[in-house]
Amino acid sequence: MSGHQGKSNLRIGVAGTGIFATDKHLPTLNKIDNLSFVACYNRTKAKAETFAEKAGIDKANVADSLDELFNADQVDVVDALLPVQYNLDAVKHAIKFNRPIALEKPISATLEQAREIVKISEATDLPIAILENWSFLKAIDIIKSEVLPKIGQVAAFTYRATGAWNAQNKYAGTAWRQNPEHIGGYLSDGGVHQLALLTGVLGDVASVSALTKQLRKESGSDDILFSTLNLSSGVIGTFTYGSAFGATEKSTSFTIYGTEGSVVYDFSPHLSKPTITYQTGPSLQSASEKVVIEVEEQDTFVAEFENFAEAVLNKDKSHIKVPPAKAFHHLAIIAAALESSNKNGSSVSVEGP
Ligand SMILES: NC(=O)c1ccc[n+]([C@@H]2O[C@H](COP(=O)([O-])OP(=O)(O)OC[C@H]3O[C@@H](n4cnc5c(N)ncnc54)[C@H](OP(=O)(O)O)[C@@H]3O)[C@@H](O)[C@H]2O)c1
Repeated sequence: MSGHQGKSNLRIGVAGTGIFATDKHLPTLNKIDNLSFVACYNRTKAKAETFAEKAGIDKANVADSLDELFNADQVDVVDALLPVQYNLDAVKHAIKFNRPIALEKPISATLEQAREIVKISEATDLPIAILENWSFLKAIDIIKSEVLPKIGQVAAFTYRATGAWNAQNKYAGTAWRQNPEHIGGYLSDGGVHQLALLTGVLGDVASVSALTKQLRKESGSDDILFSTLNLSSGVIGTFTYGSAFGATEKSTSFTIYGTEGSVVYDFSPHLSKPTITYQTGPSLQSASEKVVIEVEEQDTFVAEFENFAEAVLNKDKSHIKVPPAKAFHHLAIIAAALESSNKNGSSVSVEGP
């Protein structure tokens, strides 16, 4: 391997040059001045070579193994976009070769693997970030800082993210999604994003009662989830998730009810911009006019990489917005929901790491 770049530049090696590396991480990195891809590795080398060409990576820096990628002199940090059952192995490489690492979500395929990643991350100073980009939604901060203080005591919520089965979803063709080792298949794949948002606004989940079902054989696992959640704060609510239904408009909305008002965050794709709409007042008779905030959302992918870079350049893992322990919680909620469904909807406590 060869090649060196400027000192303030963080040089990234990519592990797994599949769809998301090509379609999202590459254009995202192109928007950030001091980050660049300098090396890559993929199980099927031809795909790594194609990626290298697109990314302007020197052909000599296409690695033949994960070890070679992590060990390369010019690689400062690693960006891993592997089927998530390999995230734990990637973290072990990061420790062995002393390279900070960003891992695509969900944190891992199982809670056991996730627990080990948390344990490893707590025993090292190396920054380890889980790329749950929804945690970087500006809407979370707007709801928390501008709206929740106006609606009294938060009592309850309804969270719904539903959509039609998309037979042409580019991700559905990947073998690891068709035969998922990650718990609940799409329920953990996409569900951790929804739960990052929900818990980002309202805090951790204590217990879950859920029913899940498989509607599509292509999902390889249950693909719809209906549940009630009991939050650690005492707030109660419902969480509904699934994109496996027949024709229906994709709809994503999150309503929070307080004793002095309520707020609806609607980020359905048919809207030109996501909206936060709230009303205040302790009763129907005293209800204020609705206030609508149109959210100028930021690019959450750029934000998560900038956050990772900040932690690495400052050599301070405490800057990481989604460390393994946080991402563990989101996967643990899905695990509890699946267990609850197996017990006909009985309440199940959400495990800690
Ligand atoms: N944040 C988001 O919104 C978002 C969206 C989509 C995906 N993602 C995440 O991005 C990651 C990659 O997803 P993707 O959709 O890009 O999947 P993908 O296209 O299947 O890419 C996965 C890559 O890993 C490689 N791979 C497969 N099995 C492997 C093994 N045993 N050892 C080493 N490498 C192996 C594949 O190599 P081959 O070429 O040999 O098959 C492939 O290039 C996942 O963690 C996913 O959850 C995140």
